[in-house]
Amino acid sequence: MKNILVTGGAGFIGSNFTRYMLEHYSNYKVVVYDKLTYAGNLDNLQDVAERFNSRYAFAHADICDKEAVDQAIREHQIDTIVNFAADTHVDRSIMDPDAFVMTDVYGTYVLLEAVRKYQLERYHQIGTDEVYGHVPRGASKEADPVAPRSPYAASKASADLMINAYHITYNLPVTISRGANNVGPYQYPEKVVPLFVTNAIDNQPLPLYGDGLQVRDYQYVLDHCEAIDLVLHKGQIGEVYNIGTGTEMRNIDMTHLILKLLNKPEALIQPVIDRPGHDRRYALDVTKIRSLGWEPAHTCADAIEATVRWYVDHEAWWRKIKSGERYKEYYERQYAGREIK
Ligand code: NAD
Ligand code: DAU
Repeated sequence: MKNILVTGGAGFIGSNFTRYMLEHYSNYKVVVYDKLTYAGNLDNLQDVAERFNSRYAFAHADICDKEAVDQAIREHQIDTIVNFAADTHVDRSIMDPDAFVMTDVYGTYVLLEAVRKYQLERYHQIGTDEVYGHVPRGASKEADPVAPRSPYAASKASADLMINAYHITYNLPVTISRGANNVGPYQYPEKVVPLFVTNAIDNQPLPLYGDGLQVRDYQYVLDHCEAIDLVLHKGQIGEVYNIGTGTEMRNIDMTHLILKLLNKPEALIQPVIDRPGHDRRYALDVTKIRSLGWEPAHTCADAIEATVRWYVDHEAWWRKIKSGERYKEYYERQYAGREIK
C-alpha cells in the first residue's frame, strides 16, 4: 500500500482519516477524491494541504463518474481505495433518498468496477452499524443478517452486499468496517452532538427527538480511524469488522452531559416529534476488532467531552457553515413546527 485514494475525504471522518494516515505513514501518499457536497469542506483539510504538500493531492469529482475515477487511479498510480464517500444523514435520507441511492449504492459499484479493472491491491468500505437495524437486546455480530430500516441504512446495506458479491464472484480484495456513531473535530453540525453543542453555545433550543431514550454508541473519530488503519493492515480479506466502544449512552444522557459541560440550563432541551422509523438502539459486538489488538482510547463520555472542547475552540469553523443560507434552509425544513408543547 503506497498510494491511497480516500473517497469522501473532505467530509468529517474522511478528513480525520487523511490527516491520521499522513501523520502515521511517512511513505504513503493520499489523494482525497470528493464531490464537495454540502458536507464536503476543504477547510477540514487546510492544514493537511499545507503540512503534507508533497504527499497529498485533491481531486474534485464524483464517485459515480466512471471516467473521473479511472483518471484519478491512473494519474496517481492508486493501489488502494478507502471509501468514505456517501450521503450520510438519516433525516436527509427520509426527506429525499435520491442522492443516497446514487452515491451510496451506484457510486460504490463504480468504485468496485475500477478496483476490478485496475486490479488494485485493496478496497476498504466504511460501513455503518445502522445496517443491522434496530437491536432491542444483545449486540450485533458481523455475521448477523442486515435489516436496515431507513433509506440511508438500506443504501449502506446494499453497498455491503455488492462488495461481498464482488469478493465472491471476482475475488476482489475487499474489507468492510461497520462503525458506530462518530463524534469529534469537523463533524457537520446536522448530526446530533455538534448540533446540540453549537445550539447550546448560542442558547438555542436542543431539538430532542421523541422521548430521548434512544441508545447510541458515541465513539471518538480518531479511535475509529485507528481501527480502520488496523483493518487495512491486519484485517482478513473478505471480512467485516464492527468498530465502536461496545458501550451505550441514551440520547437524553448525552444531552444532559453536553449542557453540563457547557454550563447551560436544561430548559434548552426542546422535545420534538420523533424521526419516522427511528431505530431506538444500536449495539455492536466489538470482539473481532479487539482481537486484532485495538482498544478505543475514549469512552462515550470522554468522546463527547473532547468534542465539546473542540467546538468551543473552533467557533469560526462551524459559524461559517451555520450562517450559510443552505444550512438555514435545511434547519427550517427539518425542525420548523415540530415542537411538542
Ligand atoms: P460526511 O457527510 O461528513 O462526508 C461525506 C463526504 O462524502 C463529503 O465530503 C461529501 O462531499 C462526499 N461525497 C458525497 N457524495 C459524493 C460523491 N458522489 N462523490 C464523491 N464524494 C462524495 O460523512 P461522514 O460522517 O464523514 O461519514 C463518512 C463515511 O462513514 C460514510 O460512508 C458513512 O456512511 C460512514 N459512517 C459514518 C458514521 C458517523 O457517525 N458519521 C458512522 C459510521 C459510518
Ligand atoms: O450509527 C452510525 C450512524 O450514525 C452513521 O452511519 C450515520 O452516518 C450518522 O449520521 C449517525 O446516524 P444517527 O441517526 O444515529 O445520528 P444522528 O446524529 O442523526 O442522531 C443520533 C441520535 O440523536 C438519534 O437517536 C437521533 C437523535 N437526534 C438527532 C438529531 C439530528 C435527536 O434527538 N435530535 C436531532 O436533532
